[in-house]
Amino acid sequence: MADDVDQQPIETSKNGNRDVVLSARDVTVAFGPKVVLDKLNLDIYRGEILGFVGASGTGKSVLMRTVLRLLPRRSGTIKILGQDFDELDEPERNALDMRLGVLFQQGALFSSLTVKENIQVPMREYLDLPASLMDELAHLKIRMVGLAADAADKYPSELSGGMIKRAALARALALDPELVFLDEPTSGLDPIGAAEFDELIANLRDSLGLTVYMVTHDLDSLFSVCDRIAVLGKKRVMVEGTIDDMLAYDDPWVQAYFKGKRARSIVPQDDAPAARAQHDSGK
Ligand SMILES: Nc1ncnc2c1ncn2[C@@H]1O[C@H](COP(=O)(O)OP(=O)(O)O)[C@@H](O)[C@H]1O
Ligand SMILES: [Mg+2]
Repeated sequence: MADDVDQQPIETSKNGNRDVVLSARDVTVAFGPKVVLDKLNLDIYRGEILGFVGASGTGKSVLMRTVLRLLPRRSGTIKILGQDFDELDEPERNALDMRLGVLFQQGALFSSLTVKENIQVPMREYLDLPASLMDELAHLKIRMVGLAADAADKYPSELSGGMIKRAALARALALDPELVFLDEPTSGLDPIGAAEFDELIANLRDSLGLTVYMVTHDLDSLFSVCDRIAVLGKKRVMVEGTIDDMLAYDDPWVQAYFKGKRARSIVPQDDAPAARAQHDSGK
């Protein structure tokens, strides 16, 4: 299949025709005797929105934090944009960090800072820019995520849940990252707010050429914006692929999740040949 995403073969490895922007191999993470991830493998391709799902407490946030080096791993290798943090010196690590944007599950914004100041936190950390330029950039990001200009000087406590998520997304985009990590970005939003946020993510992916790694519980997001889905179960990525791959996968949790009552109202029947096949063969 022809791919219209930019290819950067120099710094990324390849899987078939696709650039792999994140690859995790045999990643094991444990807290004392408790093994959370056991030899997990995952690839994320340039330009895709990957939806990462799994039951609560299975290690989705742990994986994200491990990839970002906020948690130690027991073994395994992780390459991001073709580079292994373990092989980099400090300036190189900083340079790579700048190419990543993160929206954490908790603590999306600093409550004592305005939206503009929150967005400028990564700029202050990594860049040395004049205040006027940082203001200009912050306002650009605010517009980019669909917030009104006057949101800039508001504090998080003055914002709705949806606006907080957008402001946090603006901060994640502060340094023009290539790869964005979103941990349950639509949790806590009403369905309309969540759908609008999903649309924003898809639009930004298209206009900025982002790759998006999104942990989500939201079936609507999985069906509407995710190109591919990876399911965490049994301490590793149990299955990854399209919605059809999920529907065809023989595992009780995957079946219940993707074919449950809630899913049935979302799966467009014409797009669910696997579901139909299973249904027919069950007769
Ligand atoms: N810093 C930590 N120390 C000990 N256990 C942790 C830590 N962080 C996460 N865990 C445990 O790892 C498991 C996976 O957690 P998490 O990744 O947050 O789940 P989720 O898939 O819901 O995001 C949970 O059992 C959690 O209690
Ligand atoms: Mg989590």
